[in-house]
Amino acid sequence: MLHILSGKQFADKNLIDKIFKLANDFELADKKGEIPQMLSKKIIACIFFEPSTRTRLSFESASLRLGAGVISAENASVNSSSTKGETIEDTIKTINCYADAIVMRHSENGIVEKASKVSNVPIINAGDGSNQHPTQALLDLYTIKKEKKSLENLTITFVGDLIYGRTIHSLLELLNNYSNNKFYFVSPKELSLPAENKKELLDKKIQFEETQNLEEALKNSDVIYMTRVQKERFKNLADYEKVKDSFLLTTEHLKYLKKDTIIMHPLPRVNEIDPQIDNDPRAAYFRQVKNGLYVRMAILVLALGI
Ligand code: CP
Repeated sequence: MLHILSGKQFADKNLIDKIFKLANDFELADKKGEIPQMLSKKIIACIFFEPSTRTRLSFESASLRLGAGVISAENASVNSSSTKGETIEDTIKTINCYADAIVMRHSENGIVEKASKVSNVPIINAGDGSNQHPTQALLDLYTIKKEKKSLENLTITFVGDLIYGRTIHSLLELLNNYSNNKFYFVSPKELSLPAENKKELLDKKIQFEETQNLEEALKNSDVIYMTRVQKERFKNLADYEKVKDSFLLTTEHLKYLKKDTIIMHPLPRVNEIDPQIDNDPRAAYFRQVKNGLYVRMAILVLALGI
């Protein structure tokens, strides 16, 4: 049994390779219509206290494709007994009686780890507040590997909400395993990368630059990772309004990109990438979504120890 809680758990490149090999095997098997029913007789619970399209539905689809059954609390902050005052511990102990693994999203940083302490079945963090989103990071890393054929010697630009962007926090932890990468961080000052993430990069002697010059960063990048400014993380709406449209990628920006640069986004997007870019072959974000399905199939199999 393996709880999947943060990017830091994946400091072993062999483990990452194993997940990627399995994800690739599932993709090939899917093309042949021969996905092995490795999770038959298992039940996966998806309990989401925050909204989701991709993470919840991809985990549910991954479970069903592998032969598992799914039970789901889609809007758990309203529709589960937590609204009556039940503690997260009691909720998890209850779901332990019904499911073989739990995929959980919550708005509170650290609560999925807290939940894992009382769980007899694997818990998979599907995003906790602004803290971590490790399965998104794994599918992001898989996408970079697939598109760029390497996870080393890359220049990667992260744009947008770097302070609350849990996908970025987890992805940086994974990328830190690989050598000779350089990062640009492009954000309004109010949304810059947290000090602890910067310290980690400095400690590991990883090159990075914080800038507001998007064009300069685009010219030098192999990967552009756009993110949404997350309205739901702001206490004051005026603070959100001030920064929400700071960096938009438009067709004008494409002239700065190399021919083989890829544009990624964990999605949902609001106003960060002009939809006219979607048909450019460098737009990788919907390929990234598809990769998520296979990576999450691999994660389920791994977490259940099968
Ligand atoms: N990337 C991501 O977490 O998307 P959802 O919020 O739709 O799950």
